[in-house]
Amino acid sequence: MEDVLILAIESSCDETAASVVKNGREVLSNIISSQIDLHTIYGGVVPEIASRKHIENINPVIEEALKTANVTLNDINAIAVTYGPGLVGALLVGVSAAKAISFATKIPLIGVHHIEGHISANYIENKELEPPFICLVVSGGHSHLVKVVDYGEYEILGKTRDDAAGEAFDKVARAIGLGYPGGPKIDKVSKLGNPEAIVFPRAKVNDSVYDFSFSGLKSAVLNYLNSLEMKGESYVQEDVAASFQKAVVDVLVDHSMKAIRESGMKKFALAGGVASNSALRAAMEKACAEAGVEFYRPSPILCTDNAAMIGAAGYYEYVKGNRSGYDLNAVPTLKLGER
Ligand code: KG4
Ligand code: ZN
Repeated sequence: MEDVLILAIESSCDETAASVVKNGREVLSNIISSQIDLHTIYGGVVPEIASRKHIENINPVIEEALKTANVTLNDINAIAVTYGPGLVGALLVGVSAAKAISFATKIPLIGVHHIEGHISANYIENKELEPPFICLVVSGGHSHLVKVVDYGEYEILGKTRDDAAGEAFDKVARAIGLGYPGGPKIDKVSKLGNPEAIVFPRAKVNDSVYDFSFSGLKSAVLNYLNSLEMKGESYVQEDVAASFQKAVVDVLVDHSMKAIRESGMKKFALAGGVASNSALRAAMEKACAEAGVEFYRPSPILCTDNAAMIGAAGYYEYVKGNRSGYDLNAVPTLKLGER
C-alpha cells in the first residue's frame, strides 16, 4: 500500500494542535499551541476564552504542521479532526477548519473521537502494539477503563461516576494552594511527601467493580484541611499531595489489574493527561511486570492533548473506509465507539 499522510487537527479543550502523521505511526510534525498560561489566572479553562484563542491559532498551527512535515495539502490523503467530546465552542473551531479545507481541496474528512485519539497515542512509539489490549484512559475530562478489541472497536469496562481523575488532581491542587494545572504540580511536590501520612478513602462503587468515583476522595481531602484549620493547625502540603495521589493511583491500579486478570489480556496501555503521572506510571509498570503483562504508555508530550494521536486514530478509520460528510458537527458528549 502507498504511504498515507493524515493532517490531524485537535481543539477540544485548551490546546490548539495540528500534526501530520504517516501510516498511523510516524509523526512528521506535532504542533501544539497551549493556552495554559492564559487560563491559569482563572484557575481553570474558561470556555469562551478557549474558543476565541483557537480561532486566532488554528490557521497558523495548521500551516506550521504542514511546513514542519515538509509537505503541502497536495500530499495529504485525509484530514482527521476531533469532533467530540469536549467544549462545544472549542471543538467547532477545529471541525470548521477541517471542513473548510476538505471542501476547498476535496481531501476526505474523518471525524475522530478524542478518547480514541488518547488510546491511539500508544501506537506512535510502540510500532509493535496491536489490539487487543486493556487501556486505562485518565484525563481532565475522562476516566475510562477500556478493552480495545480491535482498531476503532472498544468495550467500556468502567468509567467514573462523578469527577474524572485529572479533575480530582486539579481540585485538590487548588485546595492545597498549588494552583492550575494541578496534576503536574501534585506529581512534583508528592516526591517530597509521605504517601502513607494520611489515609484517604479508596472509593468503591458498589454495583460495578470497574467504575470509579473520585468526588468522595476530594471531599475527604477538603474535610481533612478544614478540620485542621478549625483546630488552628497547619497541614504539610507535600504529605497531603502524596497521600491523595497514592489514593488515586491505588484505585486506578487495582481496577486495571482486575480487568487484566479477568479478561486474560497480556497487554496494557495508559493514556490521557494523567498517564504522565510518575507515581501511576511506576505503579502500573511494576504491577504489569509482576503479572507478566506487557506495559505501554506514551511519552508525556503524547499523553496531554495533541493532534498526532488524532492522526494515529484517523489513519485506522481511513483504512477502514470511514469518512465524514460536511454535516460533521461538534458533539460535546460523544460516546466512545459511536460514529
Ligand atoms: O488529556 P488532557 O491533556 O486533557 C483532557 O482531555 O482532559 O488531560 C489534562 C489533565 C489535567 O487534569 C491535568 O492536571 C492532568 O491531566 N495531568 C496530570 C499530570 N499531568 C497532567 N495529572 C497527574 N499527574 C501528572 N503528571
Ligand atoms: Zn484529552
